[in-house]
Amino acid sequence: MTRAAVLAGLGGCLPPRLVTNEELAARLDSSDEWVRSRTGIRQRYMAEAGVLTSDLAVGAGSRALKSSGDPHVDALVVATTTPDRPCPATAPTVASKLGLGHAAAWDVSAVCTGFLYALASGAGLIAAGGAERVLVIGAETFSRILNPADRSTSVIFGDGAGAVVLRAGDPDEVGALGPFDLGSDGEGVELITVPAGGPPPDGMDQGPAPEDYYFTMQGKKVFWLAVQRMGQSAQTVLDRTGWRVEDVDHLVAHQANHRITRRLADEIGLPRERAVSNIAEVGNTAAASIPLALAHAHAAGALTPGDRVLLTAFGGGLTWGATTLTWPAVERS
Ligand code: COA
Repeated sequence: MTRAAVLAGLGGCLPPRLVTNEELAARLDSSDEWVRSRTGIRQRYMAEAGVLTSDLAVGAGSRALKSSGDPHVDALVVATTTPDRPCPATAPTVASKLGLGHAAAWDVSAVCTGFLYALASGAGLIAAGGAERVLVIGAETFSRILNPADRSTSVIFGDGAGAVVLRAGDPDEVGALGPFDLGSDGEGVELITVPAGGPPPDGMDQGPAPEDYYFTMQGKKVFWLAVQRMGQSAQTVLDRTGWRVEDVDHLVAHQANHRITRRLADEIGLPRERAVSNIAEVGNTAAASIPLALAHAHAAGALTPGDRVLLTAFGGGLTWGATTLTWPAVERS
């Protein structure tokens, strides 16, 4: 019989330090009005010095495990753009801190699409019979790679983590993930990138400039690509799942910009009010964005068991993806 991955737990974690638009505008040539009107963001959270991505991942992961009612998993996948170190992966550290014994643990790097790639990898492992339970975490300390002098990125991104527990189940049961659509286009590598940080320059090569270690994004070009790619990917999984767009109760898109999410809803023909949004409170948290949006909607009581949920994301690589699920009865953690 075909096995499916079923959502069994959910949790989020935000660092305590809240940073308002006003605080950023005071040191950047910007304003609360500009940031709100162009992005929908009012505030974001930033990790204090010494707090690592793995710490936020542990916070979200432990809540997801608690809400699933079982502290054990066979595997852990961490999606992150900001690992604790370039080598090794952050996931084994998280597994160790969570007391997961010798569970398989690996990182996925797909920037803002990272959580969906990690979810696909966890769901695939379950479908193949390689695991009964998988913890999937998206976690970022994105503020660490922002150029403090770059107003176009500094106001957008925030730190945080979100996690889900997947368990083996039946494709027809409530909570089952549907098919995935995933894609990439490396031709767009320069649009969203941290240029430096690869192998050190050798011989006579000049090393990278200090600002090359910071994140850069060509926002205007990325805006339209995000709308188009998420729209196409969302339509693909709707077709594969056999849902019409009007069947979708909630669109949970990567929280990049509230204008992108609204355009996306228009593009696929979904009423804008069915799009979940928490970007005002947390900004763009990259790989943590989708599970944090789910945790936010769940905590607000907006998700009812049986609701049809469409997930989609776009990010650096370039990468994109989408999947569907019916919302299960999940404990609030
Ligand atoms: N405060 C004030 N002005 C700002 C600013 C800020 N924080 N950031 C940029 N500006 C300025 C620009 O310098 C530009 O000024 P100019 O016209 O004098 O050159 C002007 O605002 C317009 O900039 P532009 O980049 O065209 O703005 P935009 O409306 O496209 O909004 C983004 C910028 C980054 C918010 C938007 O492009 C975006 O959200 N892009 C997509 C992000 C995304 O999808 N990410 C997905 C992967 S994570």
